Amino acid sequence: DVVVRADQPGGEISPILNGVFFEDINFAADGGLYPERIKNGSFEFDDPMMGWHRPALVAGGAVGGFGVAGDRPLHPNNPHFLRARLEQAGEGLPLTNEGYRGIGVTKGAKFTFSVRARSAPAGAMALGVQLVGPDGTPIAAARRLEGFTGDWKAYSCVVESAATEPKARLTIVALGKGTLDLDMVSLFPQETFNHRPNGLRPDLAQLLKDLRPGFVRFPGGCIVEGRDLSQRYQWKTTIGDRAERKLIMNRWNVEFDPPRNARDYYESMGLGFFEYFQLCEDIGAKPLPILNCGMACQFNLAELVPLEDLDPYIQDALDLIEFANGPATTIWGARRAAMGHPGPFGLTMIGIGNEQWGPQYFARFERFAKAIRAKHPEVLLVGGAGPGPSDGPGDDRFSTGWDAMRRLNADLVDEHFYRPPDWFYSQVNRYDNYDRKGPKVFAGEFASHVRNKRPGFEANTWEAALSEAAVMTGLERNGDLVRLASYAPLLAHVDAWQWNPNLIWFDNLRSMGTPSYYVQQVFGTHRGTTILPVKLGPAAERLFACASADAPSGQVVLKIVNARPEPRDVRIRLEGVASVEPTGELLTLASPDLNAVNTLDDPRRVALVAGAVTGLVPEFVRQVPGYSLTVLRIKAA
Ligand code: AHR
Repeated sequence: DVVVRADQPGGEISPILNGVFFEDINFAADGGLYPERIKNGSFEFDDPMMGWHRPALVAGGAVGGFGVAGDRPLHPNNPHFLRARLEQAGEGLPLTNEGYRGIGVTKGAKFTFSVRARSAPAGAMALGVQLVGPDGTPIAAARRLEGFTGDWKAYSCVVESAATEPKARLTIVALGKGTLDLDMVSLFPQETFNHRPNGLRPDLAQLLKDLRPGFVRFPGGCIVEGRDLSQRYQWKTTIGDRAERKLIMNRWNVEFDPPRNARDYYESMGLGFFEYFQLCEDIGAKPLPILNCGMACQFNLAELVPLEDLDPYIQDALDLIEFANGPATTIWGARRAAMGHPGPFGLTMIGIGNEQWGPQYFARFERFAKAIRAKHPEVLLVGGAGPGPSDGPGDDRFSTGWDAMRRLNADLVDEHFYRPPDWFYSQVNRYDNYDRKGPKVFAGEFASHVRNKRPGFEANTWEAALSEAAVMTGLERNGDLVRLASYAPLLAHVDAWQWNPNLIWFDNLRSMGTPSYYVQQVFGTHRGTTILPVKLGPAAERLFACASADAPSGQVVLKIVNARPEPRDVRIRLEGVASVEPTGELLTLASPDLNAVNTLDDPRRVALVAGAVTGLVPEFVRQVPGYSLTVLRIKAA
């Protein structure tokens, strides 16, 4: 039996409970959500020619070569550029960019090719632009830019693809006799999400929007901490003209076997803090930036900023609040306004540190909290409880983290759990007895990991997703305490991932939601506003449920997870409801196969099926499929 106590409404469910965790891991930003097609167009990778290829032999009589130079650069944050030097023009010197595991183009799609350039002598040089297939065959009309002077200027042309090709390349050809300096080489799609300039890949942004996320946490994850403090994420160098943004090596620049290998993984910051805030606005989510607290990743290198040197880090946090919320008359508010957003972004929460632990973290959190509270008491502070309740006996990082966050009055505490399905089932009631007086909970990174199916690869199976659904009934039932929850990581390129499982997978042209994606979507879309207590009968083994009243629709929303293989007849009783409308809404996510996965070729093997349920009365029997998540929306008459 499932008894819904509609007569005993409980607390208010966080209106932004279900959100997304964005981290630039698995090529989530460059090569993913940020649709720039040219890799290392700024020549700032440690190997400045990485991603670029010269032919072994140059046909056509040109004599000269390419090198990387640094005299009079575009901007100090972008000190290197490409220099082509031709002693004999011939038919020019070609150089090809490989893109991010190729360049994805569809037939008829238009791109803006742009570059900053200068030449010596002025007017002596030109640049050819050619989109080619993997074998070098042209797949767009060739373009030519010319008229370069002795000073850096921006030049552009339109490239229209005549074919669909996931692994195209772009060849540029230096033409003439003299030197040609090139920087910020870009091939950017004209179609972006919400038609934003420097905007996002539409299919991926739409998948995010379809989750109806209450918040977006960005920019991570471990990348906030950085490989070391010099390579930490600093929001101020991610805004403004792209040539002013400072590229850094990605924390996930790691050596593995393909496709995990990512020695070419950098952060161009084309997707920077302005774009993150704009994304939040475009998909109706609250921004939740996480900032470096003066510590590098403790799993990597215990690099620490002395407390007496912490002020610049704290100032970054204060300035970020001004950038997001300040009037255009303030320094950082003016920067935002100059970028085309005069109004505030509505920042209400900020996270200090990611997965940090121990007294050094607590001392740094305390400093940040004191300074932010003094100036911005309206902003909620998110602290961390270390790497999560996952490290077995003797590891008290999690409980000491919580104790410290209570003592320091964090508004929310970020918990992370990457654990197997059985652990998820054991935690359905995790929050029922949490202290209601202390900080609220941010379940900031979680995912069920099904181990040992394929070495090194924990797939996004239906088994994993179903166990996440079970835990999420507990998150929602405690939606007065658990204010934010997000699956992690969010995005992964099938040819360039470092971590799995992930919520959404994509290649250069296609994308798809995993079974876990649909679980998140169900909870994000069918949340309700007030908790309704649910009582489960004695036969409810491996049956989980939560219910809510939804003020806008006037419906009772009931979610049932059946984690057993056989269909079950469930007697449902709406206590305190005299009569209901005979027809209600029904949504089912189910598969008899716990190993079922979605793939780019078969993206809807496990997907939501919407329908209706008829003949409803306040007490009725409904059969739920084996291994299923069912949503019923019922309206009291
Ligand atoms: O989500 C992947 C990583 O898991 C995050 O970067 C980190 O916060 C956690 O350890």
